[in-house]
Amino acid sequence: MKLKALKGFKDILPGEVELWQELEEFARVLFAQYNFAEIRVPLLEETALFSRAIGDLTDIVEKEMYTFTDKKQTLRPEGTASVIRAVVENGLLVKKPVQRLFTIGPMFRHERPQKGRLRQFHQLDVEVLGSESALVDVELMSLAALFFKELGINVSLEINSLGCKKCRPSYRDALLTFITEHKEKLCGDCQRRSETNPLRVLDCKVPSCREHIADAPSVQDWLCDECSSHFSLVQKGLQELNIDFSLNKFMVRGLDYYCRTTFEFLTKDLGAQAAVAAGGRYDGLVELLGGAKDTPGIGFAMGMERIILLLLQKDEFALDKGVDFFLAGLGKAAEEKVFTLAWQLRQEGFSVALDYEGRSLKAQMKLADRENAHFAVIVGEEELAGGYGVLRSMKDRDAEQRKIPLTLDAFLELTEELPEE
Ligand code: HAM
Repeated sequence: MKLKALKGFKDILPGEVELWQELEEFARVLFAQYNFAEIRVPLLEETALFSRAIGDLTDIVEKEMYTFTDKKQTLRPEGTASVIRAVVENGLLVKKPVQRLFTIGPMFRHERPQKGRLRQFHQLDVEVLGSESALVDVELMSLAALFFKELGINVSLEINSLGCKKCRPSYRDALLTFITEHKEKLCGDCQRRSETNPLRVLDCKVPSCREHIADAPSVQDWLCDECSSHFSLVQKGLQELNIDFSLNKFMVRGLDYYCRTTFEFLTKDLGAQAAVAAGGRYDGLVELLGGAKDTPGIGFAMGMERIILLLLQKDEFALDKGVDFFLAGLGKAAEEKVFTLAWQLRQEGFSVALDYEGRSLKAQMKLADRENAHFAVIVGEEELAGGYGVLRSMKDRDAEQRKIPLTLDAFLELTEELPEE
């Protein structure tokens, strides 16, 4: 029997892992610039954490969670609930009233897999707990905008406000009235949703539903004064930073904890999976998960698989960086010499590959190609006797070969000719 990875679960192989590392490193530097600290939380939590935070009637909780039913434990489908659980449990908000945290890692959702949609996927997740300021909303969107700009990824930003517990019920009623009037024309899913979670009807992808709900009341017309002024400040802040955005009154998001600002960064380059980052405010969530009353919060998460796919569409993100040197020793004595030399070079920070099987020169040069080496250094008996090797550029085949003394200093002088880390 052939053993295979589960559907929607993917190996990240050598060659691609390097790009993931680069992306993580890039994110860590940017998060530090924005004064975020890393937190690492478990992959497995009590099921109740997610059902309470995300909402019993959401697709995630109803259909997509990986749950050990006998133990009432679930593999996390997202990071926000776990981060808040950890902050509350460890009293972090008591030590510092505003927590700015990020976490990086895998999430699990039993969705139908397709390009850019997996069952185990990875998020870069950013959360700010303890501030109600609209400036924080703007700051988080600016962070994501800068992230994509620096990576050269084209995105558009859509924002909405979902109101708060004060103004949303009356909007919900108005929407429900509208939906009831148009119920027969909506798809089966929407008819069912209209009773449990009417806001989700706005988000239906079925074209005929989209047509019928085009005239549905807009949440933006039902915002209370506080939500309305918060949303104006968010828009003003984005304009001041010259961050382009558009209003999308139909954006409701698939998690129930949101209130006020919600946002999504979308790409046209990934087919159906357009959202590369998404998030919003969740002012009641900390309290709902056992934290102090009225603690505000906001955050977003970026889908790493989708970002990697977008980076791979670019030429400059060649996957295999290769090694600095391939050391080819011909004959026992030369093999021993290059083995020792590899040890010295690696201590200086160079990356080195070599052959251990006594292969011919031709076979070793083939290997050097496969290792994507920048230089090959060939040491035969004659070279060994003279204390030098033959330096061959593997990247510029027209370049002349030259002699290189087998000393550390001589190799250090080549640093400038090697590609940057
Ligand atoms: P979300 O919209 O469910 O939000 O996911 C955020 C991002 O994760 C999506 O925009 C997408 O890029 C990526 N993503 C989601 N599901 C998949 C999947 N099956 N395969 C690949 N990528 C996926 C949240 O998870 C919220 N916790 C975000 C948040 C943080 N809100 C406040 N703080």
